Amino acid sequence: MRWSTIGATLFFSLSAFANDWPYLTAATAPFRPPRLEVSKSGTTDPGYLFIGPRGNEQSGTAALIYDEDGNLVYQGPEEVTANFKVQRLFNQDVITFWAGDMMKLGYGYGTVHILDNTYREIYTVRLQDDIVTPDGQPRESYIDLHESHITEQNTLLVTAYNITPHDLTPIGGKPDMFMLDAMFYEIDIATNEIVHSWSAVDHLDKIPLEQSKQGLGEDFGVKENPWDTYHINAVERMDEGYMISLRHYWSGYYVHNNGSIMWQLSGALGEGDFKQDESAGFSWQHDIRIYNHTEQGLVMDLFNNANTPTEQQGATTGLSLAVDLENRSVKALRILSDSDDVVHSVSQGSYQLMSQESQHVFMGYGSISKVKEFDADNNEVFTAQFGVDNQVASYRGYKCPWKATPFWKPVAVVQRPSSDAADVFMSWNGATEYDNWAVMSLPSPDSTDSKVIATQQRTGFETVAHLTGVKSGGYIQVVARRGDVPLGTSDVVGV
Ligand SMILES: *[C@@H]1O[C@H](CO)[C@@H](O)[C@H](O)[C@H]1NC(C)=O
Ligand SMILES: *[C@@H]1O[C@H](CO)[C@@H](O)[C@H](O)[C@H]1NC(C)=O
Ligand SMILES: *[C@@H]1O[C@H](CO)[C@@H](O)[C@H](O)[C@H]1NC(C)=O
Repeated sequence: MRWSTIGATLFFSLSAFANDWPYLTAATAPFRPPRLEVSKSGTTDPGYLFIGPRGNEQSGTAALIYDEDGNLVYQGPEEVTANFKVQRLFNQDVITFWAGDMMKLGYGYGTVHILDNTYREIYTVRLQDDIVTPDGQPRESYIDLHESHITEQNTLLVTAYNITPHDLTPIGGKPDMFMLDAMFYEIDIATNEIVHSWSAVDHLDKIPLEQSKQGLGEDFGVKENPWDTYHINAVERMDEGYMISLRHYWSGYYVHNNGSIMWQLSGALGEGDFKQDESAGFSWQHDIRIYNHTEQGLVMDLFNNANTPTEQQGATTGLSLAVDLENRSVKALRILSDSDDVVHSVSQGSYQLMSQESQHVFMGYGSISKVKEFDADNNEVFTAQFGVDNQVASYRGYKCPWKATPFWKPVAVVQRPSSDAADVFMSWNGATEYDNWAVMSLPSPDSTDSKVIATQQRTGFETVAHLTGVKSGGYIQVVARRGDVPLGTSDVVGV
C-alpha cells in the first residue's frame, strides 16, 4: 500500500497549515480519516456517504465510505480522488472513482478505477490522446477529474483539459497566448477505445471566447498557466447527443452526436437560447444532470455555486429547472438551500437526485467540507461536515446504497492490558454485511479445533472484545458474521 510514504510526505509538507479537525484512528488499520460531525433533523433515504477529501489535512486523502452515523466503512489507498460513488455497469453495482494528479487551476490528469462488490478492480479506464499538459510531461492517462459517468451503453463519459495556443486579442490578451480547451470523451470501458470525442475550441462560432465569464487575469495566458476559458465539469448522455456544463460560461450546452451545438441554456438572465424566470438564474455551476427528456421539455438539475474565490453572486443552491423546449423558456422547480446554514461554495460541488420516488436530493458542497440531504419538501434532513471549510474539499459527495463483502480477510489485533486479560480489536475494511463477531480460540496456529470464546455486536468500523482469564501463549482467530452465518475469517494471531 502507498499510504505510509504519501502520508508521511503530507505530514511534513503540510504541518505548517495543520488544522485541528479531529480524526478517527483504529488499532487494526493504519487509517486516519476525518471524524464526521453529523446532524440529522428528519427522515433520510438509506445509503452510505461517499466522499474523497483533499486539502491541507494530514491524512485521510482517500476514497472514503461512512455510514449515516459517521462510522467509517471503507478507506481506499491514500491518493487524490474524485467522483467516488456507486454506478451500474453491465447490470451490477460497482464503485467508481477518479485518482490522479491535480493541477493548481483545479483540473487533473488521472485514471478511473471501477471496483466490484468485493473491491476487486474489474476495469481501469485510461485515456491516451494528443493532450498537452502544463509541465509538458506525458501522462499514463489524461482523464480529467471532473467527470466519470457510466452511460446506459456501458461506456464512460469523461472530461479532458488540453493546453492549446490561441490568439487571445479578442479578450484583451496577446496573439501568441495559451488557453485550456474543454474536451469530453466517451470511452468503451472494456477496451479503453475512444467511441466519441469533442472539443470546445472547434466551436468558436457558438461558444465565442468573449462570452467567457472568466477574465484573463494578470499571470495567465502562458503555457504553464493557461487561460481557463471554459472549465468543463459535467457530461451526460442525451438521446441524440450530450449535455455538457461549462462553468465559465454559466451554461449547459446540448451537443449533437455530429458535434454541432443545438442550444445553450445560460444561467445569466437574457443570455443563451432560453428565456428564464429570475429564480432560474445560476452562475459558476457544477454537475448538470438531465431527466425526463422529451420533444417538449426536460428537467435540468445542477449545483449552483453562485460564487468564485473572487466573486459572489449569491448563496449556493441546488437548482432543479423545468426546461420548455417548445417555447424555449425555463422556470425553477426546486431551489435547495438550508436556511439555518447558508453556504457560499466557491468551487466544486454536486447535486444527486437520490431516487425519483422519494425526490430526496443529496448535495456535496465542494470547497465547503459539507454534504447535505434534502427531502421532497426541500427541507434539510441531514448534514455531515468532514473538515475545515475552504481548507478541505471533496470535489463531489454522494449517498448511495451499497453492499460489499471484501476479497481480503478481516483483521484482528490483540492488546494485553494485564497478564490475564486480552483486548481483541477486529475490523473488516469495506464490509457492509456483517453484524457481529465471534472470537475463536485455537490450541495451535494450524489447528482446525477452534471454539467460540466470545461474541460481540459490531460497533462501527472497529469492534473490541475485552476478554479475561486469557493466558498468554494461546491463539485466536475472529469471524465476521451476519447472525450465525460466517462471512469472513481473520488470520490466526497469538494472544
Ligand atoms: C447535426 O445535426 C443537427 C440535427 O439534425 C443539424 O441541425 C446540424 O446541422 C447537423 N450538423 C452537422 C455539422 O452536420
Ligand atoms: C420524471 O417524470 C416522472 C413521471 O412523470 C416523475 O415522477 C418524476 O418526478 C420526473 N423526474 C424529475 C427529475 O422531475
Ligand atoms: C408553448 O406556448 C404555447 C402558446 O402559448 C402553448 O399553447 C403551449 O402549451 C406551450 N408549450 C408548453 C410545453 O408549455
